[in-house]
Amino acid sequence: MNDFRKDFPLFKSIDEKSSALNDSLIYLDTAATAQRPFCVLEAMNSFYAQNNANPLRGIYDLSERATKIYEDARSTVANFINAKEAREIIFTRNSSESLNLVAYTYGMQNVHSGDEIVVSIMEHHSNILPWQFVCSKKGATLKFMYVDKESGEIPESEFAKITPKTKIVAIAQVSNVLGTTNPIKKIAEIAHKNGAVIVVDGAQSSPHIKVDVQALDADFFAMSSHKLCGPMGIGALYGKINLLESMPPFLRGGEMIEYVTETEATWAEVPHKFEAGTVSAGDAAGFAAAVKYIQSAGIENISKHDNLLAVKLIEGLKKIPHVSIVGNKDGNKRCGIVTFTVDGVHPHDIATLLSDEKIAIRAGHHCAQPLGAYLGVPATARASLYFYNTEEEIDFFLSKVAKLREWSGYKD
Ligand code: ALA
Repeated sequence: MNDFRKDFPLFKSIDEKSSALNDSLIYLDTAATAQRPFCVLEAMNSFYAQNNANPLRGIYDLSERATKIYEDARSTVANFINAKEAREIIFTRNSSESLNLVAYTYGMQNVHSGDEIVVSIMEHHSNILPWQFVCSKKGATLKFMYVDKESGEIPESEFAKITPKTKIVAIAQVSNVLGTTNPIKKIAEIAHKNGAVIVVDGAQSSPHIKVDVQALDADFFAMSSHKLCGPMGIGALYGKINLLESMPPFLRGGEMIEYVTETEATWAEVPHKFEAGTVSAGDAAGFAAAVKYIQSAGIENISKHDNLLAVKLIEGLKKIPHVSIVGNKDGNKRCGIVTFTVDGVHPHDIATLLSDEKIAIRAGHHCAQPLGAYLGVPATARASLYFYNTEEEIDFFLSKVAKLREWSGYKD
């Protein structure tokens, strides 16, 4: 996969500048945001340089071209996650907005006093706070499914928390801290048997594993473009068409209406009902280019490479005294996300010391404070991998982690 590095301006300039790893940046923070290849930047540039007009409005050639680029991007994203139809894809700003859209519309319409919403303890705040809000407004209860601390997986017995009282199950396909892949198809089956819908946070899964929303039987699926090499500021929400049609709009304004009078309005068809105001067409062009780029690299190849590096990383960390891996110790079960602590060295110090060695990782609570509290590790260090990372980078990273305690003044 190393050939892909030349497609990224950042890595190309690093690789051309120096062959010595200690002179270059080692980027191990893809779970926060991926790097962008040239083709994404070119797609965005070409939208604004050659095709810029307000999409969906103008009755002239330039605007029609802009509309086509925007709607083609929708089809590309639909194809990527195997949605049945392109109109099941709503463009949003990111996964957080996608999840809020479902909470404010489907949630506020369908959750009532005495109902329950079920989430897992490994959720990102984006997939907890919207549901806390719905529960507090509606007098419903938010229930948590807990994980086994060793395996990082949700024991099947926890699925019994989904009952006929449950109206929504909201769960990440892949945890941004543990890297665990949840059995979405099975959980969807249980949710549906109990009359609930399942909302899947796909921010961390869509860049790394093949997603098929129909096979998963997901009712809603949220994703962010920037995690899979596309631009920041655009994401998508997949929703089954019958659900989207039954929901009220989220934001109100331009282009999401059918008719407006002084006192009321009727709504445009899905998906435009959910896309108020001028859309992010340049970003959609970049998002589509990123999806096509990932498809050309092959998502299965990406998964294999992420796993290979994660196995190497975890096996290396296991050999370093005082290092503890948080969650599953099988690199094949981490989706390229490896979280760890070092005795006596605060995760922020780990990140700072590694930054001095030109290694970028994330440290802190990773926007998953309830998980940290449950595991008893409020802060951790996280290295996250993608197909542009190399085995040499992992070796270099491990050699520096081995020195963290010495640099912090410890004798062993
Ligand atoms: N959700 C992103 C992360 O896990 C920002 O780092």
